[in-house]
Order: sequence, then C-alpha cells, then structure tokens
Amino acid sequence: MNITVVGTGYVGLVSGTCLAEIGHSVTCVDIDEDKIKRLEKGEIPIFEPGLDALVLSNVRVGRLKFTTSLPDVIDKTDVIVIAVGTPSRPDGHADLQYVYAVAEQIGQNLKKYTAIVNKSTVPVGTGKEVEDIIRKNYSGEFSVVSCPEFLREGSAVEDFMKPDRVVIGARDDRAAQVLLEVFKGIRGEKLVTTVESAELIKYASNAFLATKISFINEIAQICERAGADIEEVAYGIGLDSRIGPRFLKAGIGWGGSCFPKDVEALDQMAGMYGYDFKLLSAVIEVNNDQRKHFVAKVMEHFEGKLTGKKIAILGLAFKGNTDDIRESAAVDIVRMFAENGADVSAFDYEATKNAQRALEGVAVRYAEDPYDCVNGADVVVIATEWPQFIELDWAKVARLVANPVIFDGRNLFQPERMREHGLTYISIGRNGEFGDQKS
Ligand code: UDX
Repeated sequence: MNITVVGTGYVGLVSGTCLAEIGHSVTCVDIDEDKIKRLEKGEIPIFEPGLDALVLSNVRVGRLKFTTSLPDVIDKTDVIVIAVGTPSRPDGHADLQYVYAVAEQIGQNLKKYTAIVNKSTVPVGTGKEVEDIIRKNYSGEFSVVSCPEFLREGSAVEDFMKPDRVVIGARDDRAAQVLLEVFKGIRGEKLVTTVESAELIKYASNAFLATKISFINEIAQICERAGADIEEVAYGIGLDSRIGPRFLKAGIGWGGSCFPKDVEALDQMAGMYGYDFKLLSAVIEVNNDQRKHFVAKVMEHFEGKLTGKKIAILGLAFKGNTDDIRESAAVDIVRMFAENGADVSAFDYEATKNAQRALEGVAVRYAEDPYDCVNGADVVVIATEWPQFIELDWAKVARLVANPVIFDGRNLFQPERMREHGLTYISIGRNGEFGDQKS
C-alpha cells in the first residue's frame, strides 16, 4: 500500500521505515527541511539501534522516500499516519497543536477515501476532534483510526516488528480492514476496538508500567527498613505469572519522553472527567521523590557537605541504549549535586551532547570516557542502566578513584562483586545502606 507518515521523530521515522521494510511504499513528511535533507542522505537524527541500516536499505530500493510537502503526496496515498509530537503543556495536558495542524492540512488537500491514522499519543476524544477538523474542509469519504505505538526507545525497531499486539481503533469496518492490511506483515495479536478504547489503551499501558516501577521503588524503601533484598523480592513476586518479571527493576525512577508526559496527561484527563485518579497521583509523587531520596543519601554520606567533593556520574540518558535525556533522572541528579556545590564530572555513551544542552549554565565536566570520569572521584554514582557499565574494569576504577565508594542508582551489580574490588557499594533496596533510615 501507499502510506504517508507525517512526523519523523522516534515514532514517525521508526514506523515509516518499518512499514517500508514489510513491503509498503512509504513517504515520510516533515516540515523541517534540513532534517529531510539529512534523512535523504541517510543521516539519522536519533540514536536507535538498527534504524540507520533499515532506512538506508529501504531508501535504496525506493520503498522509503522523504518530503516536506504533504500536498505533493496526498493524492497517491491510501493511508496517512499522524506521528507528530504531543508534548506536555505546563498544565500537564497534551499539546495537540501539531496534530490539529496536520488534520487541517489533510482536510484542505484530501481528494479521495483515505484512512487517517493517529499514531501520536493523544487523549481520548482526539480522534473525534481530528474528524471534525477534516470535515470542515472536506466532504468526501475518509476514516480516522487510532493505532497507538508501544515503542521503547533503544528497542523501537524490534518493538515495531515484533509487537505484543497491534491496537486498531476504528469507527467502521472499512477502516479496520485497511489497517489489518497495513499490518499483515507483522505478527502479534491484532486487536480491533473503538477509537476511544484504543486511545485509552495507550495511556493505561504506560500508566500501568509506570505504576509497576513506582510500586517496586516503594517496596525497595521497605526492604531498606526490613533488611530485605529488593532484587530477590522483585524476582520472587515476578515469578507469579499474573505479575511477571518485567518493569520491576528498582532504581532512581522513570523518565523519558513518554511516561512522564502520558502519566501526567492521564491524570489531567481523569480530572477533566471529574474523577480523582488517586493512585496515579501517588505514582507520580513516588517517582519524583525517588531521585531526591538518592541524592539525600549521597549527601548524608558526606554529612551534608558536598562543596568541593568530586562526584563522578556514570550515565545521563533517561535509560540505557538511548541518547534521549528528556525527563532523565540522571540529568536531574547531576543538577541537584551541582546546585549543592559538588564538583561534578559526568559521562554517557550517547547522550552527552543532549545533556549539555539541557544542563546549560550548570557546572559539569563532561568526560570523554568512564575512566576519565571517575578519576580522582570522592564518589561514583551510576545513574543510567547502560549495559557497558557492567563490563567496565572495576579494579581499574578502584585504583582511579580517590575514595572507593559507589552509589548504584540502577542496581546493576551484585554487591559481592564490587566488594571484591575493595569498593564500598551502596545500592537501592539492598543491604540496608540506602534509603532514609528514619523509622
Ligand atoms: C515507554 C514504554 O515502555 C513504551 O511502551 C511506550 O511506547 C513509550 O514509553 P520508553 O519511554 O522508551 O518506553 O522507556 P522504558 O523502557 O519504558 O523505560 C521508561 C523509564 O523507566 C526509564 O527511565 C527506565 O530507566 C525506567 N525503568 C524501566 C525502571 O526504572 N525500571 C524498570 O524496570 C523499567
């Protein structure tokens, strides 16, 4: 089929490229001319493992094209996928101006029946609003479909090609059949439901995953007080097939471009419907507190006096395998340590440039490699779960630091391994050395 994807961010570029990979003829549209030029040259503006090779191979065989003009391609397309950003407004609501702008442009240029697919994460009811906007300028046939994405950064290509499920929210059977055709080349359950249910499935999924993480982070606090080990507790509850082992990793909390935005938007949406989503408010509060607990514990280790202390922070991205620092807990703790007078050095495999922009004006030394980062440090903090940190030569780290103390905000290690190198290893929810000791 001929598919046009509007928006070439994480969702749009991955979706467009993977749709081309499964055989469709795809044109990705973006208003950013420079970005389109770079994409045509095979320059991928985001770090997403495997994406660059897929873009290049599909451009080469002519299944993937790029343009800045939707009107130029709209006549030839069977499906238009809206994959533009829906950032948070200051009041927490999703900002839908970019979605509305695309809908306006579609309405002004549509000539024949087309399925309009909302892949951007949008509040329940947005599908109806998009329909109304298109109807303003176009009286012919079309369908608006909700097809939310469930892509994790760092594994987005795999998540698209091997999803647990494809959710198709459609008002009519014709639209549902079009989308089933689009995803024919993708395995995984295809759930056809209403537009509103599909829109809510997206928010409820992210909110539930965030809830799992905030839940295990609170259990970690209990572990500290009860002398239990959060890794064993998480493993033990995860063996229950009704709970499952994933998204039960205690740490300094969740960040990224989705969880914070989507959880906030769902909380606001509930409020708009007059419902007080008490659980979700607590999930957000627990997450905000988690990174503060962590910083407080490191400060306590220095009796509250951080001035001049050399703190080496390994990791800036909001999670491993990405360059994204949006709502990153790691960036937050860098800022908190620097504001408390510490002499901060930081390292990340991919996210340093993005973090420098986000931390403009904050005194941080950005190291070229992890060993340079920890050299002479009074404490080493692990803030992002980059798998490479596990493979570092920790005996060498032990020789380089001024003070052999590691605070692990992502519980990457077994404590015994670190203690073999003579390192004092403090992590989350384990061995009673982390978490407020207040009873
Ligand atoms: C998330 C959802 O997983 C994905 O389905 C949705 O489409 C977009 O939002 P993403 O934001 O890329 O994906 O990251 P994810 O892997 O979900 O991690 C989110 C945050 O939770 C990260 O900060 C990560 O460090 C943290 N996390 C994740 C934990 O703290 N513990 C865990 O067990 C898992």
